[in-house]
Amino acid sequence: MEGALTARDRVGIQDFVLLDAHTNETAFLDNLKKRFSEDLIYTYIGTLLVSVNPYKELDIYSKKQMDIYMGVNFFELPPHIYALADNAYHTMMSEANNHFILISGESGAGKTEASKKILQYYAVSCPSTTLLDSVRDRMLVSNPVLEAFGNAKTLKNDNSSRFGKYMDIQFDIQGDAVGGHILSYLLEKSRVVHQNHGERNFHIFYQLVEGGEEDLLHQLGLESNCQHYSYLVQQDECANVTSINEKNDWKTVRNALSVIDFDESDIQHLFGIIASVLHLGNVQFEADSKGYATLNNNTELRWVSTLLGINVQVLQEGLTYRKIEAKTDEVLSPFTVDHAIYARDALAKAIYGRTFTWLVNKINDSMENKEPSRKTVIGLLDIYGFEVFYVNSFEQFCINYCNEKLQQLFIQLTLKSEQEEYEAEGIGWEPVQFFNNKIICDLVEEKHRGIISVLDEECLRPGEATDFTFLERLEEKMGSHPHFITHKLSDKKTRKTLDRGDFRLLHYAGEVTYCVVGFIDKNNDMLYRNIKDVMRQSKNAIVRECFASTESDSRRRPETVASQFKSSLLGLTDILMSKEPWYVRCLKSNESKQPGRFDNVLVRHQVKYLGLMEHLRVRRAGFAYRRRYEVFLQRYKPLCPATWPHWRGVAAEGVEVLVQHLGYLPDEYKMGRTKIFIRHPRTLFATEDAFEVCKHKLASRIQAQYKGYRQKGEFRRQKEAATKIETCWRGVQARKEKERRQWAVKVIKKFIKGYMTRGEAKTTDNSEYLAFVRQNYLNRLKDNLPKTVLDKTSWLTPPPVLTEASAILRQLHMRLMVTRYVRGITAQQKAQLQLKGITSVIFKGKKDSYPQSVCQPFVDTRISEQDINMKVLQIIRHERVKYSVPVVKYDRNGFKPRPRQLILTQMAAYAVDEAKIKQRVQYTNLKGVSVSTLSDGIIIFHIASEDVKQKGDLVMQCDHLFEVLTKLSVVANKQSAINVVQGSIKFQIQAGKEGIVDFSSGQESMVYKDKNGHLMVVSTRTRAR
Ligand SMILES: Nc1ncnc2c1ncn2[C@@H]1O[C@H](COP(=O)(O)OP(=O)(O)OP(=O)(O)O)[C@@H](O)[C@H]1O
Ligand SMILES: [Mg+2]
Repeated sequence: MEGALTARDRVGIQDFVLLDAHTNETAFLDNLKKRFSEDLIYTYIGTLLVSVNPYKELDIYSKKQMDIYMGVNFFELPPHIYALADNAYHTMMSEANNHFILISGESGAGKTEASKKILQYYAVSCPSTTLLDSVRDRMLVSNPVLEAFGNAKTLKNDNSSRFGKYMDIQFDIQGDAVGGHILSYLLEKSRVVHQNHGERNFHIFYQLVEGGEEDLLHQLGLESNCQHYSYLVQQDECANVTSINEKNDWKTVRNALSVIDFDESDIQHLFGIIASVLHLGNVQFEADSKGYATLNNNTELRWVSTLLGINVQVLQEGLTYRKIEAKTDEVLSPFTVDHAIYARDALAKAIYGRTFTWLVNKINDSMENKEPSRKTVIGLLDIYGFEVFYVNSFEQFCINYCNEKLQQLFIQLTLKSEQEEYEAEGIGWEPVQFFNNKIICDLVEEKHRGIISVLDEECLRPGEATDFTFLERLEEKMGSHPHFITHKLSDKKTRKTLDRGDFRLLHYAGEVTYCVVGFIDKNNDMLYRNIKDVMRQSKNAIVRECFASTESDSRRRPETVASQFKSSLLGLTDILMSKEPWYVRCLKSNESKQPGRFDNVLVRHQVKYLGLMEHLRVRRAGFAYRRRYEVFLQRYKPLCPATWPHWRGVAAEGVEVLVQHLGYLPDEYKMGRTKIFIRHPRTLFATEDAFEVCKHKLASRIQAQYKGYRQKGEFRRQKEAATKIETCWRGVQARKEKERRQWAVKVIKKFIKGYMTRGEAKTTDNSEYLAFVRQNYLNRLKDNLPKTVLDKTSWLTPPPVLTEASAILRQLHMRLMVTRYVRGITAQQKAQLQLKGITSVIFKGKKDSYPQSVCQPFVDTRISEQDINMKVLQIIRHERVKYSVPVVKYDRNGFKPRPRQLILTQMAAYAVDEAKIKQRVQYTNLKGVSVSTLSDGIIIFHIASEDVKQKGDLVMQCDHLFEVLTKLSVVANKQSAINVVQGSIKFQIQAGKEGIVDFSSGQESMVYKDKNGHLMVVSTRTRAR
């Protein structure tokens, strides 16, 4: 119910007991429909299971589903047939008592399917051993065999069970299924000889004819064609069933028979009987001249005779004559054709019916448990539910009577258990208002007064008893009964709804009108005694057995069908009364066997006739809900601070505190010894709603706690992991560092050693050091090479080992620079350098101003030709002017300075004043040239005195001293004639007269005539020489 509580808002209500409007049929149907539309075919009424046929395969019967339901509290999971089966089983095990599951519902509602599901559940869920497996197999395969012989296609159901079945499953003390026993009720034998249009005979006939092997059919004299057999044909055709595969079913049945211990002769005899019934159906009678039935050379009869092992004559006599016993004599009375047909059909029905009983017994033998140990049972009752047709006959009368009995049983058992529970719990019994149907059961079954007694009396009465005389008798006897009414007994209004041949019973489930036609015949189920005698002669062991056992006293009249049924029902009631009940009520969702269709009218009809509302009323008469204190407290304890999270005291007291806290009113609940009883579902729902709300809060809190806990755990784990990784990483780093340091120590040591022995010859100790030193020096050298040839100082000082190499390298580098330089210079530069070279040879280290002159380039001339007077040019042009430069000429006497142009030609040097050549010095006459060592620009040409034309030596001052003299030395080839003179220079003023030029250094350069008559030349001192 707890499961129902939580699910109630989702798809209807899982338990009708919790339906607030429990007397409202529409609310009941709405709930069923709502659930059915979601494929929820099961709903509870307390422990009763209502099942609505879905007419489609649902995925709710798998092994997985079975596992889910195994051993789980009934109300904890959604309603299911497995829950009911499991609960019955566990209650049986824990209380060591017997149980039964009553499955009822109208034809096609799913009773047989439900019983199979239960059986399968036990087969899977119960413990097993190899020995027990065989019993279990037999129980499972007994179904297809019984269905083959006892089921048929009807208009309502392609596999309709035409008998009631009660099966005991026996369990030993360990809960193993160790045996089984079947009781069958009221097989519809009439189907053997006649079926309504669109219906069929029992499946076995079709299975044999269509599925039987050729040999077998030959042996049985059968043809593989159902059309051939009049018992299988109605109005010239056989009903077609697409849902059935005869050949497969035949194989299943054959296989099942061998599992259930049928030996070959049993099987042969069994099929002999089935075949003989078919042949019997084809036996045709002819009328002789007096209208009596005759049988001449009938092949079919011969087949019957062969198959049953009965003399053909005897058989023929049995089918055409009736033996009448008159005191001592026996007289044979011939049948009319109709009578003979009746007798033939009666025989067919009897043979088949008795064989069916034999089959059930045989199956029982094979499932029997021979172990004497204590056993408990669960009975499965798959029996027809209440039937109401347009025309209701003897069969419906029996069936509805059966349902009345079962309803009475239900009321008794339910009330009994309610009362017992109230007593056990110490709660005062509150009388429950419900309809007790005992009055109707009595109406049907009471000895001497009930309808069955009247019927039996009418059947036994000598004279012409008919169905109508039976009705009259009923009217006489039951006239005043409130639940019985006929056309004659009714008032005007009701009379319109009844025919003269009808009687109406007011069953617990509603009114049903029966038509008396056929009651007498069907109740008699007459089989003439002489034909029974004939059957006893049969060589077919099954037939012999079937007819031998009963009616040994052939003179006694056999029990009527109704009486037999009544006593078998009494037996069944006894069986059931001693057991704990469980109910499954099957409902048909629609007449057309369509999935997903819920026919409101049809279901309402069934709800009524299955007494579901009545059942609910009884269940709800007292308290809607009851639960053990422990269970109740466990579920709802979060709703009260005093009981949450733990109630330390007695559970009952905890519940009392809890319900007080919840504000239950005194008449809403009762406290029993072990259980709390709650009267109305709404009280419970309110509690459950509060629980739902509270549950969410609790869940959130627990979730938060749990998440926190998980998160902390995770954090701790991560931290530990991080520490671990860190430790490992540090270890790795430390080891690396250690290696690095070890390596460094080694290197340093080696370095020091190398350093210390660097001067020694190459050894292992110093070789690396030296290599390092070399490399280091070379690397440094590479970056610090002198950039110019002139840079003589910046060459890196080499380490001792590289002294030699360094010198070589230096040289190489110098050469390289020189080469590069040389390659880079032009012809002009070259000429210039050559000139500078000459200058160097003459003056280097001799004259103070030389170094400053080095960087001053020489030019071709200092005076261009345009600036030389034309006249002069004309005079000297033929000598080719090589160089001209302005100079200051000092007079030899008085040293007066005069500006002059000094022009060098190929031949001579000219001192020119404007257009006048003042002096011409032919190079051959130039004895020498003197200059001082200081930085002045005085040039003195010493001219040969023998040249008379010459005026004396030429004293000049020129700013381009080095250039002039270099050019002169080249043009006149006078290199060796140029002298750098230390101190004063003498010169010839004229032949025999000398002059002197003194040189000194001073602050300021000047040239003047000194007091001593010398020419004084003061030059500024140069910084360095
Ligand atoms: N739970 C179910 N799931 C799917 N189909 C079902 C279920 N129950 C019944 N059926 C369908 O309904 C058909 C009739 O069911 P079943 O033979 O059990 O009815 P029944 O109540 O035994 O009828 P009868 O009284 O005629 O024997 C089945 O053959 C099957 O097709
Ligand atoms: Mg059935």
